[in-house]
Amino acid sequence: MKAWLLKDFGLDNLQLGETPTPQPRAGELLVKVGAVSLNFRDKAIVDGIYEPHKVPKPLIPVSDAAGTVVAVGEGVTRFNVGDRVNSHLYSRWLDGEPGPHEPDYCFGSPLPGGLAEYMIIHQDSAVAAPANMSDEEAATLPIAALTAWYSLVDFGQILPGQTALVQGTGGVSIFAVQIATALGAKVIATSSSDNNLHAVKRLGAVAGINYRTTPDWADEVLKLTAGKGVDLLLDVAGGSGINQSVAATKASGRIAQIGFLTGQTVALNLMPLIFRQTTLRGIAVAPRSSFERMNEFLNQHDIRPVIDQVYPFEQAREAYEHLAKGAFGKVVIKVG
Ligand SMILES: NC(=O)c1ccc[n+]([C@@H]2O[C@H](COP(=O)([O-])OP(=O)(O)OC[C@H]3O[C@@H](n4cnc5c(N)ncnc54)[C@H](OP(=O)(O)O)[C@@H]3O)[C@@H](O)[C@H]2O)c1
Repeated sequence: MKAWLLKDFGLDNLQLGETPTPQPRAGELLVKVGAVSLNFRDKAIVDGIYEPHKVPKPLIPVSDAAGTVVAVGEGVTRFNVGDRVNSHLYSRWLDGEPGPHEPDYCFGSPLPGGLAEYMIIHQDSAVAAPANMSDEEAATLPIAALTAWYSLVDFGQILPGQTALVQGTGGVSIFAVQIATALGAKVIATSSSDNNLHAVKRLGAVAGINYRTTPDWADEVLKLTAGKGVDLLLDVAGGSGINQSVAATKASGRIAQIGFLTGQTVALNLMPLIFRQTTLRGIAVAPRSSFERMNEFLNQHDIRPVIDQVYPFEQAREAYEHLAKGAFGKVVIKVG
């Protein structure tokens, strides 16, 4: 089959080639990939800054895929040939609390990903792709939408009328705006771009703050919330901005620590965290059960993924470059 292979770190070392088509073993599905979407994680893997010691080489990259089952291994009962499925990043985390080794079973490193004509997905980890979405749309769900959903609902327990803050206008944050708004929450969004802030308000955000022109954005959040702070903050930026996130979140509020766009280490001021009694929780996407609940919700509320651009399979590297420059919502690669 044709596959993009990461032979070493660096985008130049991501090369289109041929590799044997995998065969499904007991319990596995062979999926003809229709589309994949890129997440910051995929770029960080190529750049060699995401658990580099765990990246096998060559690697078929990209975790998030949607496609059609074309063959099944012995004992498969959950899906049939012809069914459309999604990959699920934490492939062994099905329900409840995560186990200690979930990251060892993620697609797109260390398991082979979807940037190829075919991929193997175990029947237990596959999720039915929403019938009302194309493969390009469904491919945006496994990380970006599900992380937003889990942060807002399973962890955040956001209620109608409460306020959530999302950072930037990338994949996770745009889904978070759409989902939180549909849940009846008020969303404050930040962005480096005034144009993106206008666009995000059209999706439902009630207020926007430009974090470039207003570097002390937490002060602005306090003004917008009568000095109280938001109920829930989805932190995708990471780095030292975490101290502003604590300041912008209400006393006894929650922060979902999702990302590390500006850095993976931080000097956290403990006294504000202690005095505000903030719950700071690391988020690593979600279990499969949460994915299934989210799909029902997306269907009920007719939420469509916001796709910035769809690239053809041959232009996968251009898609990575687009993500690196910043996308509004998702960057997708059509495979099939
Ligand atoms: N832990 C998990 O389960 C999980 C799941 C998904 C993603 N993540 C992580 O979350 C982060 C975002 O992922 P993504 O896939 O949504 O990325 P993405 O689609 O590449 O979005 C990046 C966007 O973030 C915004 N941004 C950049 N620096 C910022 C800053 N200092 N403050 C606020 N916003 C900033 C920019 O928006 P503007 O152009 O509007 O400024 C940029 O376009 C990454 O670190 C990713 O690895 C973690």
